[in-house]
Amino acid sequence: MSTDQIIMGIETSCDETAVAIVKNGTEILTNTVASQIESHKRFGGVVPEIASRHHVEQITLVIEEALKQAQVDYSDITAIAVTEGPGLVGALLIGVNAAKALAFAHNIPLIGVHHIAGHIYANRLVKELQFPLISLVVSGGHTELVYMKEHGSFEVIGETRDDAAGEAYDKVARTLNLPYPGGPHIDRLAHEGKPVIKLPRSWLEEGSYDFSFSGLKSAVINTLHNAEQRGESIEPADLAASFQESVIEVLVTKTLRAVKEYNVKQVLLAGGVAANKGLRAALDDAFKEIPEIDLVIPPLSLCTDNAAMIAAIGSVAYEKGKRSDYTLNANPGLEI
Ligand code: KG4
Ligand code: ZN
Repeated sequence: MSTDQIIMGIETSCDETAVAIVKNGTEILTNTVASQIESHKRFGGVVPEIASRHHVEQITLVIEEALKQAQVDYSDITAIAVTEGPGLVGALLIGVNAAKALAFAHNIPLIGVHHIAGHIYANRLVKELQFPLISLVVSGGHTELVYMKEHGSFEVIGETRDDAAGEAYDKVARTLNLPYPGGPHIDRLAHEGKPVIKLPRSWLEEGSYDFSFSGLKSAVINTLHNAEQRGESIEPADLAASFQESVIEVLVTKTLRAVKEYNVKQVLLAGGVAANKGLRAALDDAFKEIPEIDLVIPPLSLCTDNAAMIAAIGSVAYEKGKRSDYTLNANPGLEI
């Protein structure tokens, strides 16, 4: 019997059915994702009922595929970590029930974990974490600055008061008639345009680490509608570039301020919007000036939803002695 710690991660909180197997907290043996994006595209967003149905159809296939790819048997698995929240309740339930069934059938410890903690721990699959650290979390549902003084400890020092960054990207994309999910399309378009349209930056009160993106989103929509009413045309690439510049300027400025105030050793980027090329480049540039702070940016496959990140946080939770019992339930509003 091997002494390696082998964690299976299961993630079904939104529109990806994902299963991964991670060795000793950092080594990905497999990271299998079945995306449903094509099925939701024609509705312009994720339809919860369709998401649940796809998860039901896919989950056992993805589990089998992951075991095969990793060449791992149930007897090798130390624990099963599953996203218990936040997310869509019907979608979460599929992963939670699959994890419970496997844990019960094979007598394997079960650990419910937080989706955003998972996004943050995607970074540990790239580099060992150094504390204290700050993580900038930018996903479809969350925009947060999280301070960590040690493994498994998460203090939210700022969060969005309205739309999350990814949500703003997706809504602006829809206004520009771009397909769902809009983030990557705006990102691509932004690089073809120039940030010549004046748009607001939402700094909020002095010293606040909170964010707000709904004013910016409305400003983009108004700019477009006003131009239409005047019979003028606006270059979509310029609008995308101007929107992206505003989002990035606020994210990077607040992250830099937090990093200095909290005197951290490391800064992590996390969540689907971390795939944004403009944001990655802007953070790289900003942190080149302060080489004593280690900036970690995960590869694209670990930014958007995946299960390797769930196994990574599961590994730390396991070490800390966290165990869930069979009353584990989906918790769509789970706090980090
Ligand atoms: O973390 P994630 O995969 O799911 C949630 O937990 O929400 O994030 C999805 C979000 C979507 O809003 C998508 O448009 C955005 O991440 N996204 C991007 C990019 N790639 C994905 N936003 C901006 N630029 C990108 N390249
Ligand atoms: Zn996510």
